[in-house]
Amino acid sequence: MLSEFDNVLDMLCGFPAGKPEREGIFANGFSSRGEDTPRADSVTIVNLSNILVRKLGKPTGQANQGHNFMPNQVLSAITNRTSARQLALPSPTRGHIASIIQAGMSAPDHGRLQPWRFIVLEGAARGILGEAMAESLQSRTPDASSARINAERNKPNRAPTIIVVAARITPGKIPEVEQLLAVGAATQNMCLAAHALGFGTMWKTGAAAYDSKVKLALGLREDDHIVAFLYLGTVALPGVPRRFNGSDEGDKIRFIN
Ligand SMILES: Cc1cc2nc3c(=O)[nH]c(=O)nc-3n(C[C@H](O)[C@H](O)[C@H](O)COP(=O)(O)O)c2cc1C
Repeated sequence: MLSEFDNVLDMLCGFPAGKPEREGIFANGFSSRGEDTPRADSVTIVNLSNILVRKLGKPTGQANQGHNFMPNQVLSAITNRTSARQLALPSPTRGHIASIIQAGMSAPDHGRLQPWRFIVLEGAARGILGEAMAESLQSRTPDASSARINAERNKPNRAPTIIVVAARITPGKIPEVEQLLAVGAATQNMCLAAHALGFGTMWKTGAAAYDSKVKLALGLREDDHIVAFLYLGTVALPGVPRRFNGSDEGDKIRFIN
């Protein structure tokens, strides 16, 4: 029986909800939660065309055709998503991560340039980011205390898995800002997909995200943009959903008719 979250995930990935096609995501190379153990010290650069299609098979669902998900469930998942205040084990499996990335890659993308790049840091591999962040802080703030540098080094341990989401801009007629927006939309899809799968996220950036040396340490190029350090795990301390009271938004929404 499909849960409301399955329906949300189907929608994010462009599958008709409740149809058997999505079963294939998990049937070919990836398993569902608990059945596979992510390698503790792996750094994986994931690229849809090479990895997802090879490992998962080509999605057969058609976006916007035959949806039978309940729109209120989708809206409920969107409006109830929060940034977790604390994340813990168990981490998402490779199967979950594939679904989360597939949701990311289903974001609107002008020209279908696929500007996104995903680097999955699991277990001990988070140390690569921690070390780079500590060195970045040290070079930005040479007089930082060793306690502060250590705290920076430890930041990636706030979640069992981190997906670094980056944008690689293709020069040409699609403006850079639109390619960045596509990667931002991908990141939000990933937050929602993780939520739909029962996991929490924290979308972080900070000064280290703009440091060329951090990008190089992650195998990115200096001219790539780190859009998110997406912390992923099981929610240990949830955030508080935002509530709209209809008055605060007055200056942000205007109807013209
Ligand atoms: C591009 C981007 C970068 C962000 N960077 C940080 C960050 O470095 N640190 C942080 O605490 N929150 C950061 N946030 C905000 C949080 O992810 C979160 O959305 C915010 O705290 C609101 O909480 P909520 O998602 O539960 O509504 C960032 C959000 C975006 C969109």
